[in-house]
Amino acid sequence: MIPYETLKQSLMIRQSTWLVTGVAGFIGSNLLETLLTLNQQVIGLDNFSTGHAFNFEKVKDAVSAEQWSRFHFMEGNIRDLETCRRGCKGVDYVLHQAALGSVPRSLTDPITTNESNITGHLNMLVAARDADVKRFVYAASSSTYGDHPGLPKVEDRIGNPLSPYAVTKLVNEHYAGVFARCYDFKTIGLRYFNIFGRRQDPNGAYAAVIPRWVSAMIHKEEVLINGDGETSRDFCYIDNAVQANLLAATTDNPDATDQVYNIAVGDRTTLNQLFSKIRDILADDIAYLSDISPSYRAFRPGDVRHSLANIEKANRLLGYQPTHNIDQGLAEAMTWYVEDLTG
Ligand SMILES: NC(=O)c1ccc[n+]([C@@H]2O[C@H](COP(=O)([O-])OP(=O)(O)OC[C@H]3O[C@@H](n4cnc5c(N)ncnc54)[C@H](O)[C@@H]3O)[C@@H](O)[C@H]2O)c1
Repeated sequence: MIPYETLKQSLMIRQSTWLVTGVAGFIGSNLLETLLTLNQQVIGLDNFSTGHAFNFEKVKDAVSAEQWSRFHFMEGNIRDLETCRRGCKGVDYVLHQAALGSVPRSLTDPITTNESNITGHLNMLVAARDADVKRFVYAASSSTYGDHPGLPKVEDRIGNPLSPYAVTKLVNEHYAGVFARCYDFKTIGLRYFNIFGRRQDPNGAYAAVIPRWVSAMIHKEEVLINGDGETSRDFCYIDNAVQANLLAATTDNPDATDQVYNIAVGDRTTLNQLFSKIRDILADDIAYLSDISPSYRAFRPGDVRHSLANIEKANRLLGYQPTHNIDQGLAEAMTWYVEDLTG
């Protein structure tokens, strides 16, 4: 198994072509940045349904002109098979991130979520298989654990999905498994647990909790907690998720493919604790925040109460070792958010 730092060094001198779907989004644009920094060729596919072209500008600023020239963007929808086929042409590795996230969005509009997340995923599998790519890594989700009460979550013990979104992510795993078994196609699913960090969108009805709260605090708006604040999550910094993708795409461990992995830190933080952590970091620079309190409202339908990952499998088979715990991740993310939201 190649340690992550060694893998990055070897990629620097071995150029491959990667397709990142959802490249204009939070996780996709971070994958793009890291891959370009490692001198890789990147094809990006996105329809800007929740992603933004301004994320490309941020990536462009973070890499050299030569590295940026290795990025080729295709605007398109993964619901269209021909678009997926064009995206997969000549590609070594697929990092499939495009999907409509958010449990509440899927409760409001299950059909659109289904089309992007299931039809789009199936199109990508077919296109990638036919293009003979070496590896298909896709974004799965901790929502697949559904109502299973066990903690920490272990990959082979799941419950019933609690939202249409969770159904789509479970179906993604089944399709990937079937493609592995029926076509000997090499797939790896990464069950992300509440990823956070730079370029995660703070705006919109379906924004994730960390960027939404940071934005609210900076703009002196009310911070709303759904439920009593004792709901807990395994918050995982973006750099850990990027690491998992690169390890999964390139591993030569035969036991590592046709698998799904928890991608998290293995630590649990309640929403009340998260509120205090964010407030305390920001209060160092913004004095009025030091004594603010959150407001509480009803629990959100479809949300699971507690989430905590066992990350032993990803460590054992992929060599995954998170570089950032929640505090290290929040410290880095906060610097970025303050610059981005006040700059
Ligand atoms: N962020 C998390 O904590 C988290 C947790 C679990 C799973 N995931 C999964 O990770 C992936 C990336 O999530 P993210 O947080 O970066 O979300 P995001 O919304 O920032 O990025 C998703 C990207 O996919 C694009 N997209 C959506 N539908 C598309 C379509 N039909 N065709 C082409 N592009 C399309 C969007 O425009 C966007 O740029 C998603 O599959 C999501 O379900 C994320």
